[in-house]
Amino acid sequence: MIKFLERENHNQTQKRMPLQLEDELFPSTPGKFKVDQRGAHYFMNRQIHRCFASTSTMFLWALFLIALTASYLSFQSFVDTGSKYFTASWGGIQWEKQVRTSAQIHRSGGMSVLVTGAAGFVGSHVSLALKKRGDGVVGLDNFNNYYDPSLKRARKNLLESHDVFIVEGDINDFKIVSKLFDTVAFTHVMHLAAQAGVRYALENPMSYVHSNIAGLVNLLEVCKAANPQPSIVWASSSSVYGLNEKSPFSELDRTDQPASLYAATKKAGEEITHTYNHIYGLSITGLRFFTVYGPWGRPDMAYFSFTRNILQGKPITIYRGKNKVDLARDFTYIDDVVKGCLGALDSSGKSTGSGGKKRGAAPYRIYNLGNTQPVTVPTLVGILEKHLKVKAKKNMIEMPGNGDVPFTHANISLARKDFGYKPTTDLQTGLKKFVRWYLSYYGYNNGKPVN
Ligand SMILES: NC(=O)c1ccc[n+]([C@@H]2O[C@H](COP(=O)([O-])OP(=O)(O)OC[C@H]3O[C@@H](n4cnc5c(N)ncnc54)[C@H](O)[C@@H]3O)[C@@H](O)[C@H]2O)c1
Repeated sequence: MIKFLERENHNQTQKRMPLQLEDELFPSTPGKFKVDQRGAHYFMNRQIHRCFASTSTMFLWALFLIALTASYLSFQSFVDTGSKYFTASWGGIQWEKQVRTSAQIHRSGGMSVLVTGAAGFVGSHVSLALKKRGDGVVGLDNFNNYYDPSLKRARKNLLESHDVFIVEGDINDFKIVSKLFDTVAFTHVMHLAAQAGVRYALENPMSYVHSNIAGLVNLLEVCKAANPQPSIVWASSSSVYGLNEKSPFSELDRTDQPASLYAATKKAGEEITHTYNHIYGLSITGLRFFTVYGPWGRPDMAYFSFTRNILQGKPITIYRGKNKVDLARDFTYIDDVVKGCLGALDSSGKSTGSGGKKRGAAPYRIYNLGNTQPVTVPTLVGILEKHLKVKAKKNMIEMPGNGDVPFTHANISLARKDFGYKPTTDLQTGLKKFVRWYLSYYGYNNGKPVN
């Protein structure tokens, strides 16, 4: 009954409402007037009809909607950028401050260096040496798990205790590398980030393409566009000599017979950097390292894994070449390599381009950094046995075709002439230092924890 009466009233109101009054129901000051619910639908329809009655009004509405959408979108992007700026793991105010502080130069004539692969073996040593002599250093590393990332974290902690900041990122990330150059005008780049190791290519070939080819090009793209352009020193490898039989290896020898994908990507790196030198005027120095070893070393390398296995009483596998000839390596102690890297940076010469345009010829150099005294692998094992005071269980097998080469031997006269490179640590001394570090770091004694 009540419902019926309501409907009745509603109909009556609709019938009785004069047109003039309809206009008055929508006052210019919203909120002051309570709309009569019974007529609202009807009045709305009329009002909408009026608003859209002419094309010009429709056009204005369309403009209004477009403007509303555009301002919503720009507000969203402002919110995104703003929140990233204040909260993201990189790119915020705090991050920029850390980068700038770490890059500060504390000696006259010093340099500010971006060190890629700074949490790696060679990268951590080079970063520390640069910082200690007063240069500015910022690291970049993706902390991948090719080998135990906790060792990379420990190196990072060590560097942080010396005020070196390492940015966690990939050299393939154009935004992060560009942002670093927007934040600091690096004078030099020490490019050491790479997929290292020869045998791992059988398992994960694309990681070599990712870091050693694509990552290198990405880095060079940012460097070429930077203003001023930095000078670049980067790690090639003795592996580019591949099947070369002429000894010792000279920079003039052929390097077109790589024996592994790793070697092929390093050789490609030499060609790629040459292109950037030629087209954009980037100063480039490539360093061919010869089997670098020492404290904080790489667990995938033979001297390191031999030490672990000997201490744990596990057998070690020693490869032999054809006709049971022992493999030999020109083992080079880390401190000597670091001196070579610093010498190369100091003598690198300036890039000539700016804003991606070449303004003149820039240096393009390649140097061997070795020790010039190859030692056979069984001799290396003998030295380790002596320092560890444990006999190794040796398993001698013929070298499989997995990318290793029978021997390496560096001719270093070019590096000596150009920046006084002169290695001073023999394998006995270097391995002694390595073993001391290994035992203090891992806390092992004959395979059993000390603590
Ligand atoms: N150690 C040697 O005996 C030796 C010999 C010849 C050449 N090299 C070259 O020297 C350089 C340093 O070697 P290392 O022994 O210190 O190796 P390493 O593996 O300890 O250091 C390389 C570092 O680069 C980082 N990295 C790898 N790919 C990256 C990427 N895409 N983006 C950012 N970071 C990345 C890794 O996390 C690692 O910390 C490498 O270029 C290597 O190829 C080393």
